[in-house]
Amino acid sequence: MMKPLPVSDRLVTVPASPIRKLVPFADAAKKEGVKVYHFNIGDPDIETPEVMMEAVRAWDRNPIGYANSHGEAPLLTALNSYYHGLGFSFLETRDIQVTMGGSEAISWALFATCDTADEVIVFEPFYSNYNSYAIVHGVKLVPVLTTADTGFHLPAEAEIEKMITRKTKAILICTPNNPTGTVYTKEEMEMLVRIVKKHELFLLSDEVYREYAYDGRKQTSLLSYMEEIPDQAIMLDSLSKRYSVCGLRIGALVSRNTEIMQGVLHIGQGRLSAGLIDQLVAAKLSEVPQPFLDAIHAEFEKRRDVLYEGLRAIPGVVIPKPEGAFYTIVGLPIDDAEHFCQWLLTDFRDNNETFMLAPAAGFYATPGKGKNEVRIAYVLNTVAITRCVELLKKALEIYPKKTA
Ligand SMILES: Cc1ncc(COP(=O)(O)O)c(C=O)c1O
Repeated sequence: MMKPLPVSDRLVTVPASPIRKLVPFADAAKKEGVKVYHFNIGDPDIETPEVMMEAVRAWDRNPIGYANSHGEAPLLTALNSYYHGLGFSFLETRDIQVTMGGSEAISWALFATCDTADEVIVFEPFYSNYNSYAIVHGVKLVPVLTTADTGFHLPAEAEIEKMITRKTKAILICTPNNPTGTVYTKEEMEMLVRIVKKHELFLLSDEVYREYAYDGRKQTSLLSYMEEIPDQAIMLDSLSKRYSVCGLRIGALVSRNTEIMQGVLHIGQGRLSAGLIDQLVAAKLSEVPQPFLDAIHAEFEKRRDVLYEGLRAIPGVVIPKPEGAFYTIVGLPIDDAEHFCQWLLTDFRDNNETFMLAPAAGFYATPGKGKNEVRIAYVLNTVAITRCVELLKKALEIYPKKTA
């Protein structure tokens, strides 16, 4: 028998997603008939808008051909009017490249701004898939720590500047943030703009949770600075969370840097197109009634409140009040969150139910960080969230490896 061919060194360095890596244990529990609540992944239970479902049902184009590489005209127009509606009327459709989800936009932004071994500053904990894309493109993520005691807000300007080297090409942020829920203030955004101007860097802003800011907050978009730093600003967007269409796989990369836009179009041509059906269903975004979107916002804010109030009443649990998105990083009185999350799936049962969380270490680049933390995605309804809080309380009471 032939020995297995060696695969690339870099392939084996792509980490498993901390959000999905415990799935086999959840599947095994489900096979035993256990109900598993999924608080590990940001796939909301909110219904997709009816206009989009109607477009799916009414599909009659046959054959289903390739779509335009840049983006189907109705989708580009709908996205452009959406950005105009946010107040960014300087944008034109040529500043928008349709991508297969925000995921592809992130990947292309890293590819477009960095060569192999170049560095990108990120604020940890950060969306864990940044790691995967960075490894795929040979880019080094340089983490700057943010902590629960400041609500995971950005450190002082000098702390960030200290991490800039000759290899640094970009700063990558996410606001409202996954996994911390933090919404960066206008002052923080201005600080970042100052830094990238001074050090001649790109600023990449992942804004897939733009609408989800709570307690009257409003997200400050990188689009607000796109006229000031047109060549440096790249905004990464997605429809997945805003319209509850995670499976549609439609996002966008937005920039006024013509070289970047031409380059990403060439990548887009290389992968032919995003799905035709996906794009034309997504184009219905402009017909989604505002009250529908307002109701989603209100629902997530309510879920946040239920989760926050419930968790902070559990002894030993550390949770800053999440400001946006639908995630929170929670410190637990345990040593090893990965072991705890696995134990929940293999050993812990209450009334034949358990729940799934994401161990937070995978959201950090610094080894050892986040070991006693989990990320909770509050994507299920408030009844399920209340049950999750109750289950967590019970689990912590009997977990054999508690620290307090
Ligand atoms: C911060 C952030 N960016 C990007 C994505 C990618 O989403 P999608 O590819 O579905 O647009 C996600 C998904 O969870 C995310 O949380």
